[in-house]
Amino acid sequence: MTQPSQHWQPDVYQNNASFVAGYGAPLIDLLKPQAGESILDLGCGDGVLTRKIADSGCCVLGLDGSTALLEAAREKGIETVCGDGQKLDFDRQFDAVFSNAALHWMTDAAAVVKGVARALKKGGRFVAEMGGAGNIAAIQTALEQALAEYGLRPRACWYFPTAEAYRALLQQQGFAVRQIGLYERPTPLPTGVAGWLEAFGEPMLPEGVDKEMRGQIFAQAARLAEQKLPKENGQTVADYVRLRFEAQLSEAV
Ligand code: BEZ
Repeated sequence: MTQPSQHWQPDVYQNNASFVAGYGAPLIDLLKPQAGESILDLGCGDGVLTRKIADSGCCVLGLDGSTALLEAAREKGIETVCGDGQKLDFDRQFDAVFSNAALHWMTDAAAVVKGVARALKKGGRFVAEMGGAGNIAAIQTALEQALAEYGLRPRACWYFPTAEAYRALLQQQGFAVRQIGLYERPTPLPTGVAGWLEAFGEPMLPEGVDKEMRGQIFAQAARLAEQKLPKENGQTVADYVRLRFEAQLSEAV
């Protein structure tokens, strides 16, 4: 899901972040899509997981804020709509809402959960995984330090909640929380911290950072983070923390 300052480029995403969908595949087992169900993939990106859900015989709609990524999803035969997950406008339409690695881009989480609750049929499922409390702390700290060297402060652009905070949001909107929890998922970065920052770092930069300064800040942040993070088989391993949950909308709403 996009913030206005995040410019998704499918080729940059493919080069630096194609691992994202691979890690999301087990979440589809939790979703248990049934043939004939109507499912919304919230923040579908380039549609790799959306395609897998559709292959279960479901009718899936992929929603994302990036037209470039949606084009890649449509090339996989996915029906798509461009939109903001914080302003959903569906009414009792879906049997389930699925989301992988997207909800942390939606900083107005209360609006997201409210929109999802309205989009679901009574008894519908909300199954998702996102960055949770402590996610990518080493990379964020390194970027903060690099920005500080220029007298700059980062923008708050992601929401990495605790399980308690997200549970409360879900319950407020009439969900029974079947399971929710944080888990650490050390994640090897195929193109290192530099590649990660190229794909995802832009929204943390404050306004007025030009291309040259951006390159210098990212290079310094990558150096700092690489010193802190462990290596595995020659790859830097990022400190990902995931929040995974399964919730069911009350029949009474
Ligand atoms: C994540 O999947 O945890 C993530 C990806 C991009 C930016 C921030 C977090």
